[in-house]
Amino acid sequence: MKNKIKLLVKYIITSVVALSLFNGVSAQNKVEAALKVKINSIIKKMTLEEKIGMLHGNALFSSAGVPRLGIPELTCDDGPLGVREEIKRFDWASANWTTDSATFLPNGSAIAATWNPLMANKYGVVIGEEANARKKDVMLAPAFNICRMPLCGRTYEYYSEDPYLNSQLAIQSVKGIQSQHVAACIKHFAANNQELDRDSVNTLVSERALREIYFPAFKAAIQQGNAYTIMSAYNKLNGYWCSENDFLLNKVLKGEWGFKGVVMSDWAGTHHTIAAANNGLDIEMGSKGYYDQWYFARPLLAAVKAGQVSVKTIDDKVYRVLWLMYHTSLSANHPKGSIATPAHAKAAYDIASESIVLLKNDNHLLPLKANSVKRIAVIGDNAIRTFALGGYGAGVKAKKEVTALDGIKSRFGKTASISFAQGYRANYLASRTDEQNSGYDQPDQNLIDEAVALAKTSDVAILCIGSNREYESEGHDRKNLELPFGEQALVNAVTAVNPKTIVVIMAGAPYDLNEIKKSNHAVVWSWFNGSEAGNALADVLKGVVNPSGKLPFTFPVSLKDSPAANLNTYPGKNLTAEYKEGILVGYRWYDTRKIQPQFPFGYGLSYTDFSIGNISTDKLSYAKNETIHAKFTIRNTGSRYGAEVVQLYVSDPVCSVLRPEKELKGFKKIFLKPGEIKKVEMKVKVADLAFYDELKKAWNAEVGEYVLQLGSSSGSITQKVKISVN
Ligand code: BGC
Repeated sequence: MKNKIKLLVKYIITSVVALSLFNGVSAQNKVEAALKVKINSIIKKMTLEEKIGMLHGNALFSSAGVPRLGIPELTCDDGPLGVREEIKRFDWASANWTTDSATFLPNGSAIAATWNPLMANKYGVVIGEEANARKKDVMLAPAFNICRMPLCGRTYEYYSEDPYLNSQLAIQSVKGIQSQHVAACIKHFAANNQELDRDSVNTLVSERALREIYFPAFKAAIQQGNAYTIMSAYNKLNGYWCSENDFLLNKVLKGEWGFKGVVMSDWAGTHHTIAAANNGLDIEMGSKGYYDQWYFARPLLAAVKAGQVSVKTIDDKVYRVLWLMYHTSLSANHPKGSIATPAHAKAAYDIASESIVLLKNDNHLLPLKANSVKRIAVIGDNAIRTFALGGYGAGVKAKKEVTALDGIKSRFGKTASISFAQGYRANYLASRTDEQNSGYDQPDQNLIDEAVALAKTSDVAILCIGSNREYESEGHDRKNLELPFGEQALVNAVTAVNPKTIVVIMAGAPYDLNEIKKSNHAVVWSWFNGSEAGNALADVLKGVVNPSGKLPFTFPVSLKDSPAANLNTYPGKNLTAEYKEGILVGYRWYDTRKIQPQFPFGYGLSYTDFSIGNISTDKLSYAKNETIHAKFTIRNTGSRYGAEVVQLYVSDPVCSVLRPEKELKGFKKIFLKPGEIKKVEMKVKVADLAFYDELKKAWNAEVGEYVLQLGSSSGSITQKVKISVN
């Protein structure tokens, strides 16, 4: 009887939930249907010239509206580090506003290092609120191209080398931005994985690699995040410019994925009128020359008149732009927004403090005990450098940016004397030629001597090195993985006189840390970590924050170990880069090829310890439409509060095609008090175990055995369980 009642209650609850969901969906459908009628009636009133005016830039960051019909301009701004300062309407010079100082948010790889989708959402909400305060409809963010080649100059902007991690973060940052009625513009679609030759290179990528590695985050950001806009990449993909690529834009994006929004070109990334118009581009942005002569201006008008582009195609583009506007600038209850508020600074702090990765901590040198360190030497140019601006590409006019030195002073200043020495000269400018930059890797002996003298008389030396926003920049790739500015010589000299040297690296991409890993006890990785970077770093050093960041990409021992370099497919020959490694990108390559990395993907230590145990699944064998429920326990076995990111990888040992040694299919960041134990469940759809079968032109989860592997990094798997798919 009891059971029957239970079942009845369950039935009623399920029905009510289903009904309300259905009502929600149908209410939403009604709204969309009414919007459709409204937009179509507006389009009917427009002249062809007015329509075409909406499809190309009328200034650097806007496209025209139709004032007589109450349609405003569409305004955009960069991202992703925050809302860029106002520039002049027709050139890149500052508009010299006094009200556009914004929050500088941690860079993409920092957000990825949090392994926490909530942090990506927080990022998005801040971006959305600040965009509203600046009256921007579209934020050109987030950027999450796959980190294929560690040298890529925009690695710091992008998220990670893994499509699943990218997807989970992309969904949430889009949702966060768009929760404020501001459109996210996900970029750069697709396979823009190097800056070298980016505007001319033809990337040759197999359909399998596109679908398994390069597409998933875009697909997820659209289908699960509902992104309103997407930016086509500069490069060609398989022979066609991304801005006029029928396969990419029409077939996959708008066809298969059902993308309803707007495809925008990258700035000056449009190459033809008819091909771009017919193959899926909606708005041309950033081109050179007179605005009325752009591909999508008079030439498009002429092409329509000549019957080369149909009015139906134009109407579809205009529909998309108006649809976007009705979800942003023309939406009901459009929020006013706010800029650089204390709450935004707090969000930047939260993200930064979850992003910092503890790479090494021998002898528990960290956290520093405030009462036992009386003299702290802070050494290195990065201790006083800000990262909101620099190099090519978008930065932020930061209202505030706490440097490492300021952060350390504010957290340790009451109990210790803090002295600073510059240590090295960061003498590299992205705007210079290679020749003008030559010698940037040379140490400065005077600065080293000064630093050594200081380190000798200090209880501890905090060495702040790494790169900066000039050295890692859009438009350039790095030449090698070495630390720049002769930093290694500085590290060696300081460590020799003070073994209590904590190396803090601020950078956004993998570097060669072999020597540091060997010779230094404590190594901390920070990023271009936003307005609160210094405070978050100092709190980690002090133990107020227990580090919980994990590397979002593999650090190879040497460049030649990395797939594109190993196969000699970077930067390509004759402007053609064949992605010969296929699906073996990042840890998929290192693990499958059994190449030991310097630091594996997903790696990061804590001030406490965790033990993951007892993995089990709800069943042993699954049908293809089922979901695997994997359960396990995790215990904080140390004496500090902290978080572990448990990573679930899957392998398919026997398969008709090559599969990677392991692929990330789930992760969870779990916060635990000392001694606390939690039961955790992760769900993986069997369908998500599939590979893209190029013969069948479909996803294929082959029957047979799969191994679920649980661990704290791709290099540290502690639990395994087998299941089978039938
Ligand atoms: C970049 C885009 C950016 C655009 C506008 C291009 O050079 O690739 O990411 O949004 O400029 O600044």
